[in-house]
Amino acid sequence: MEHFSVIQSIIRAGLAGDRAALDKQVVRLRERMEKAGQIKEAETIDRLRASVSEAYDMAPSRIEISRTLISGERLTPDVNPPIDRETGARLCTLDFPNSDDQQPIYGDIVYETIEGLLQEWTNAEALRSVGVEPTRSLLIYGPPGSGKTVTAHHISQRLGLPLVTARIDGLISSFLGTTARNIANLFDFANRYACVLLLDEFDALAKLRDDPQEIGEIKRVVNTLLQNLDHRCKYGVTIAITNHDRLLDPAVWRRFETHVHIGEPELKSREQLISRFLQPIKAEEPTLRIVSYCLTGRSGADIERICLSVKRTLALSRDAHDGPGVFHALSTVLARSHYHDHTPARILATDQEAFISLIANDPDFPMKQTDIGEATGYGQSRVSDLKKAKRHLALMEAAHAQ
Ligand SMILES: Nc1ncnc2c1ncn2[C@@H]1O[C@H](COP(=O)(O)OP(=O)(O)OP(=O)(O)O)[C@@H](O)[C@H]1O
Ligand SMILES: [Mg+2]
Repeated sequence: MEHFSVIQSIIRAGLAGDRAALDKQVVRLRERMEKAGQIKEAETIDRLRASVSEAYDMAPSRIEISRTLISGERLTPDVNPPIDRETGARLCTLDFPNSDDQQPIYGDIVYETIEGLLQEWTNAEALRSVGVEPTRSLLIYGPPGSGKTVTAHHISQRLGLPLVTARIDGLISSFLGTTARNIANLFDFANRYACVLLLDEFDALAKLRDDPQEIGEIKRVVNTLLQNLDHRCKYGVTIAITNHDRLLDPAVWRRFETHVHIGEPELKSREQLISRFLQPIKAEEPTLRIVSYCLTGRSGADIERICLSVKRTLALSRDAHDGPGVFHALSTVLARSHYHDHTPARILATDQEAFISLIANDPDFPMKQTDIGEATGYGQSRVSDLKKAKRHLALMEAAHAQ
């Protein structure tokens, strides 16, 4: 049966009562139908999705966590986090679940990995019936600004558990033996309460190894860390994050059962990020595609920053808050930045008409001239003229010559 794998995912998400996962899978089904030429069916799905409220669309549901998975006392805001005895610095920060969490945006593989873990945590008893335990430790790695920290926050939200985030700089002490003691105290704290433990910027500990003066100390620190990580799996979920996976000690790496790489967003994810960060401006599909095309290779954090600048620029201009307004504002924002290693962004920063000529001629950017005309405000006949004039070629050559 066609699309059966997606239908299975829809059923799984529906039975688990996970609305966010359900919606994601419905969108996947719609995309597959569109690709297969089943346009009417895809439009029916669009209508069904549109008929449910925005709130339903955005708010990911909290899952019902298996009772035996997380042990410990309830962590409340009045509990004091542990401190470094010498300096009084806090060893961690505490975040409590609230209602304004949004599902991070990523491609299918990352999405399915994270949702898979959440499913394990809700179905611990089913796993145990076949003699396996749910995964309790997750290592997230990838470039800066790709959504690693927001993912950890989102997981703790979905589990309805407080997030205990280690302050790695607070843990590291110049006093001999204190770093290891701080690590042990932090883990004792996390094991005492029902929580998710987050070791963000985890590589800071590994970096200590670069210092020849620290050889003895770092051995002690890594050993303490390994022992505590091993012990931790009896108590709760642990997430570590790093930008520099190669710096991590291989023994530490092995302690994490699942490794997830979150990289730069692909085209579809970029469109979703742009749509989210341009809110409350409602951008149509062609506008999203054009902005996404310009922001190839950018991280989620970059996309957020650029969208905020676009909104500021648009708000202060006389342009309408529509596709052409966004297009002009994006061109202004890109023109203000000094460096673009992506040629389309550089062309839009320099010359809007050359950019239109570029996209109208790009076989990898299949958009109708009427849509380009509407999204940019140039109109279909001007787009057609620009396509013929191939104004972008001179700028492309200049870019390659550099
Ligand atoms: N995949 C994503 N989905 C939703 N928002 C994202 C995503 N990636 C980045 N962002 C936005 O960018 C901001 C920075 O993301 P985050 O702090 O999670 O990045 P990071 O990968 O932890 O970066 P770093 O390695 O620099 O710590 C977030 O506040 C969020 O608004
Ligand atoms: Mg981070």
